[in-house]
Amino acid sequence: MERITFLGKTLKNPLVLASGILGNNAGILERVHNAGCGLVTLKSIGPAPRDGHNNPTVVDLGFGMINAVGLPTPGYDRMDAEWQALADRTFPLNASIYGGSVDEFIRVAQFVSEKEPDFIEVNISCPNSDHHGMLFGVDEKAAFAVTNAVKKVISVPLIAKLTPAAPDIGKIAKACEDAGADAICAINTAGPGMVINIEAKMPVLAFKKGGLSGPMIKPVAVRCVYDIYRAVSIPIIGLGGVTTGEDAVEMFMAGATLAGMGSAVRYRGIEVFDQVNRELDDWLTAHHTTREAIIGAAHDRRHLP
Ligand code: DHB
Repeated sequence: MERITFLGKTLKNPLVLASGILGNNAGILERVHNAGCGLVTLKSIGPAPRDGHNNPTVVDLGFGMINAVGLPTPGYDRMDAEWQALADRTFPLNASIYGGSVDEFIRVAQFVSEKEPDFIEVNISCPNSDHHGMLFGVDEKAAFAVTNAVKKVISVPLIAKLTPAAPDIGKIAKACEDAGADAICAINTAGPGMVINIEAKMPVLAFKKGGLSGPMIKPVAVRCVYDIYRAVSIPIIGLGGVTTGEDAVEMFMAGATLAGMGSAVRYRGIEVFDQVNRELDDWLTAHHTTREAIIGAAHDRRHLP
């Protein structure tokens, strides 16, 4: 697989581990890198310690997963051991952060930036903001405000992580770009959804509702990446249901520069990274093309009026 320069950093390939999948342990993330992942993302780090929701928090539905983990975090300033281990890392790191207010985002971002991750991913799509009970990521002004404020206090490139719940995700992406975002990551989980156990007559998740991920949301993710590509000129990390090399090709054709995976790790193990790299290479070779050549390719053919 080709080496890639992304926002000034060298990645060994275009595959990204999505946030929240394998936690914040440096040893585990190094294994994921060694298994073929070009860029690993931390579980979103928040402003204060939180236990998260009761179990069950994640349920595999076969055609994807539903989760309401509840933003468990030790809190940014109680992770000394984790930061120490991550300081000695030999792999590119994307640090995901969240806050319930602009001030909380600023506090977490400032601290995390000093730990020198390669990128900071601003999770404006997490389901726990107190911003008028809404996600920052569904409101252009709120998305701009958070991105702008965080950009001012960090010294590494900023990636804005968006939600498919936005009525017009292209407009949110543009607001983030205008506020100084260096890249967009899309999408966070879709929904929320609910699954009911009909024998128990109750929702399966303890929190009742949860975000959808995996193969069932891929068409939503592809549409979002397509809309974002038309709205901005910064690069896009496309994720949501990517499980195979051909899924990654689809993301690139929609407009993504890199392709992320989360639920796929559950379905195919961490070996999924080496496997998808190989599948992607095989597809590109068979079609006599390159990843760069197919980025945005689905936008070129205007067969509709
Ligand atoms: C959680 C879920 C998300 O979709 C997210 O962006 C952050 C946290 C969670 O339930 O822990």
